[in-house]
Amino acid sequence: MYIRSGIGMGTVEETGSLQLTNAGQAVGEIREGKRFPFGANWASFLTEFDQGRVEGSKAALQGMLGAADLVGKTLLDVGCGSGIHSLAARLLNAQVVSFDFDPLAVACTLSLQKELVSDEPRWQVLEGSALDREFLKRLGSFDIVYSWGVLHHTGAMWASIDNVTRCVARGGVLFIAIYNDQGWLSHYWRAVKRLYNQNALLRWSMIAVHLPYLVLGRWISRSIRGRLRLDRGMSYWSDAKDWLGGFPFEVARPEKVTEFLRQRGFILKKLKTCGRRPGCNEFVFSKQADDSSGKANAFGELPAATAPTVSSR
Ligand SMILES: C[S@@+](CC[C@H](N)C(=O)[O-])C[C@H]1O[C@@H](n2cnc3c(N)ncnc32)[C@H](O)[C@@H]1O
Repeated sequence: MYIRSGIGMGTVEETGSLQLTNAGQAVGEIREGKRFPFGANWASFLTEFDQGRVEGSKAALQGMLGAADLVGKTLLDVGCGSGIHSLAARLLNAQVVSFDFDPLAVACTLSLQKELVSDEPRWQVLEGSALDREFLKRLGSFDIVYSWGVLHHTGAMWASIDNVTRCVARGGVLFIAIYNDQGWLSHYWRAVKRLYNQNALLRWSMIAVHLPYLVLGRWISRSIRGRLRLDRGMSYWSDAKDWLGGFPFEVARPEKVTEFLRQRGFILKKLKTCGRRPGCNEFVFSKQADDSSGKANAFGELPAATAPTVSSR
């Protein structure tokens, strides 16, 4: 188990002695074919890592959060994967806590941290689950809770969304990305993902059938539009494997996510939809501030008006 302690954020003093109820669970589920080995995919992604990818991730964070930097902000990266977005947040001067359910993803994040950032005390990396309420409770609350493409892979999407809302400080921001519900197509992809994780023969069959569409088709379409570099510093090959194998898999229509969070005191500030294409809708919500708390909204830059910004990729 990979655990770093001693960040001194006040809210996570006790993590060094944290007992995780789910340690080893991810590995077992991967072995049984019930879970995609996300961490292994991130390890291969890191072999293609370069500074341009971090810049892509920084730009995506800045764009969605409407902030040039994150000085003075605490950020929780739920399901940090490779760690690239935690690194980007750290380089934007946030104080970061990252965690992932997959021990290999945690190892990837730790290796990025070790190689690229010198002031480690402002970035803590943990192994844990978005479904483990006790673990989340011990982390405390954050100005920004970031969870991109994660909560639909937990096996209990709505419970995990509910759980992470509790980590957002009053007046803070929740930035999540959730797979779009495409009706029958989403059922099709769920079946593909289930097969992908069964055994090597099915995995290679799924790759052979879908790869031309997922990599070549995407590459051609993006090069025609002059946008060959993927958003957020991602890679064609890793994205394709993640898309084909990413299981458990759940989906939601944007209005369902928005309503679920509205009932929990969150106001939609920004929505970027993937339109009719397969992929994630990105949401930025702010948690209603309790006037008596005296804590300012984490992002003065976000418009105060209730009408959210809606765009599609
Ligand atoms: C598609 S990847 C996204 C990684 C990263 N957020 C990014 O945007 O590049 C999904 C990640 O969620 C993690 N994950 C799945 N279930 C989780 C859980 N219950 N708690 C925390 N992380 C989880 C996976 O291990 C994986 O690294």
